[in-house]
Amino acid sequence: MGPRSVPLLPLLLALLGRPDPGRAEGCDLQPVTAEPPITLSYATSTVPRGCVSNSSMGTDHEVHVLSVKWSKVSPVPLTVAVTPQADACSRPAVLILLCTRCFATITSPCSNLIVRTDARLSPESTIRAPNPEPPIVSSEGQLLAWALSAYGGITSYSELQDPRKVQLRLGEDAHSPPECIPQENFNAILHLETEVFFHGMKSCSRSDAQSTRAAHIIHLQSEPSSSITEGNLSLSCSQNSDGNQILILQSKANFTWFLSTKCNIQFLVSGSYMMPFFSAPLLGNPLPDTEQGLIAEAFEKNCSVIASYSAIPASTHISLQIHEHETVETPVTATPIAITQPPDLPHQVLLTLKPWKCTDETMEIVIVRSYLEPIKDVVNITLRDISCQAEKNATHFMLKSPLSHCGTSLEGTGYANNELILSLAKDAVLRSVRVGFQCEIPRELFLRLFPTADFKAPQTELEINKEAFVQASMRWMDHPADLQLKECWLVASEREPVLLVQGGEARGAGVTVLEGPPSSHGRKIWRFRFTYSIPEGGHIPFSAILKCKAGLQNDTIFEKVLEVRVKDAWRPLNYRGLGLGAVLGITFGAFLIGALLTAVLWYIYSHTRPISKLQPVSSTAPASESSSTNHSIGSTQSTPCSTSSMA
Ligand SMILES: *[C@@H]1O[C@H](CO)[C@@H](O)[C@H](O)[C@H]1NC(C)=O
Ligand SMILES: *[C@@H]1O[C@H](CO)[C@@H](O)[C@H](O)[C@H]1NC(C)=O
Ligand SMILES: *[C@@H]1O[C@H](CO)[C@@H](O)[C@H](O)[C@H]1NC(C)=O
Ligand SMILES: *[C@@H]1O[C@H](CO)[C@@H](O)[C@H](O)[C@H]1NC(C)=O
Ligand SMILES: *[C@@H]1O[C@H](CO)[C@@H](O)[C@H](O)[C@H]1NC(C)=O
Ligand SMILES: *[C@@H]1O[C@H](CO)[C@@H](O)[C@H](O)[C@H]1NC(C)=O
Ligand SMILES: *[C@@H]1O[C@H](CO)[C@@H](O)[C@H](O)[C@H]1NC(C)=O
Repeated sequence: MGPRSVPLLPLLLALLGRPDPGRAEGCDLQPVTAEPPITLSYATSTVPRGCVSNSSMGTDHEVHVLSVKWSKVSPVPLTVAVTPQADACSRPAVLILLCTRCFATITSPCSNLIVRTDARLSPESTIRAPNPEPPIVSSEGQLLAWALSAYGGITSYSELQDPRKVQLRLGEDAHSPPECIPQENFNAILHLETEVFFHGMKSCSRSDAQSTRAAHIIHLQSEPSSSITEGNLSLSCSQNSDGNQILILQSKANFTWFLSTKCNIQFLVSGSYMMPFFSAPLLGNPLPDTEQGLIAEAFEKNCSVIASYSAIPASTHISLQIHEHETVETPVTATPIAITQPPDLPHQVLLTLKPWKCTDETMEIVIVRSYLEPIKDVVNITLRDISCQAEKNATHFMLKSPLSHCGTSLEGTGYANNELILSLAKDAVLRSVRVGFQCEIPRELFLRLFPTADFKAPQTELEINKEAFVQASMRWMDHPADLQLKECWLVASEREPVLLVQGGEARGAGVTVLEGPPSSHGRKIWRFRFTYSIPEGGHIPFSAILKCKAGLQNDTIFEKVLEVRVKDAWRPLNYRGLGLGAVLGITFGAFLIGALLTAVLWYIYSHTRPISKLQPVSSTAPASESSSTNHSIGSTQSTPCSTSSMA
């Protein structure tokens, strides 16, 4: 069970940036001799010794032998539930339970079950009839020989170490071996599931102890053959737990922990984990797979005491009770149990959801409220500047701000930095949690259409014979000065495309290039106005696209398409759809991103240039906001053109 360290390991861990196991020195794990700080039990079907056989099949009974060994007095009565097969108790069965006069509750729906035991039975037992005395035996061999001579066969034999609960399934199998010959670490899954206490925990404390912070470590030892990939951990702790403890759960990376607890304790979990109300598991942190590595990890988290270290087999059900922290000597009062969550939960939830989305001009945050349920009592959410508070409706928190406001900083990196501040209210006590985040500003050309010259409030309607204002912009830290607006076109079905701007100069009739604001933070802005006129009697399209390209002298091309609805003052705007599909060969994709964002995205791939990526346009959101819908699309990050330009 004990971990082995190979000499290479410290070096490897150091190279991987893990805490140096050297830090674990000065803390030698020793078996806990005094009152253990935890009670730990886990479910397993592997017994220290056991066997099955078909030797009972020709006899009057099936016979199951349980031999219980104790390393400590059990704090609770042993419960044994005997369940029949589907054909309900038709064949008489014998249970022989030897547990050195332990206190036990034995239940079974089968009234023909014969129990021979030295246990004192609790009143909850369903076994009432006086059953024959058990044998007096002093060894496993004697026990099996006695059972064989008394009943003519043995269906199963299991030795159990410190069991808390046993579930025994009746039934015989002709394919079992003819003789029951006990084997070590026997997999008794056919007949048995048991929950056993673990008493092998170890502990240590650092001599130069600087804090009273204590760690509990559970280290799952997965057999290579183990198929167990998830387990439920129910954790309870004393009412007065002071929150100055951390629980470290080490498992294989593909193991999912289902945590249920009301404890005020911090978690550090490898693999992934679920909590009630989570809709999907959260990814944990990779943790070292050795005793020394885990101790070092605990020290890294400022613990001075390893209150318990338990190496147990992978299990589908683990129950852990943490007893009162020694330093806490609070009298028992009737205060309600505080329902608090691990302090880093808000970080983990938000950094998993990544609910932020940036354009070169705006930051938008949309959070589905039900995703925050694991973090109790979120009252309101703000950015670093607390006057920027999220609006909320029944289902969402929503916040939108210009990048120039709300404490957002742009540090020349292509990211906008800010913090989400969650106000949590519990029992009228307000507490706030700050989660810093980085929102990537996509390296894309952004197009926005405005009805007025103030370039505020973008929209997606283009009115015929009326002036419209266009802004193209992009943030490119490296060479904003070299960036040029190469061309802009207006394209509508059944009409000639209209060239509006080329090489930064007005081309179409009625187009005027306007002076844009100076570039700042690497953001370049171009502006022009134009009037879309259609001769009298001409066909009026329902929609059109504005298509622009920007690039460097050496031809790196960023291309973007903005779809607009064409509005004719004489024709009410209708919603006959965006009739572009036929014209441009649109690839259509609908992405459902949780319940967070549901949108129809249109991808338009131009064939003019090496695979340029175009801006997806939502039919519901205003132009500048449409990018909030392309949340989950990996290609956002790698614009083919921009990578080529870096070469
Ligand atoms: C028990 O198993 C042995 C060997 O597999 C087989 O020969 C024998 O017939 C079985 N006995 C019964 C009662 O099925
Ligand atoms: C889990 O990962 C281990 C190695 O870390 C691997 O041996 C095992 O096959 C994996 N199990 C499953 C079910 O993927
Ligand atoms: C550990 O303690 C130091 C000094 O008190 C503090 O700076 C650091 O943030 C703490 N680390 C953790 C993980 O709590
Ligand atoms: C763990 O608990 C959850 C809910 O409490 C249950 O749905 C799931 O089946 C359990 N998993 C195991 C392996 O027992
Ligand atoms: C957030 O909510 C709390 C409690 O309702 C309130 O006291 C606080 O002022 C709110 N924060 C902001 C920025 O409005
Ligand atoms: C809350 O606002 C979001 C985002 O605007 C919207 O999708 C959702 O339907 C709204 N929910 C309700 C109940 O109004
Ligand atoms: C294009 O120009 C930019 C700067 O003007 C430069 O960094 C980049 O390497 C050039 N790309 C190619 C392919 O020459």
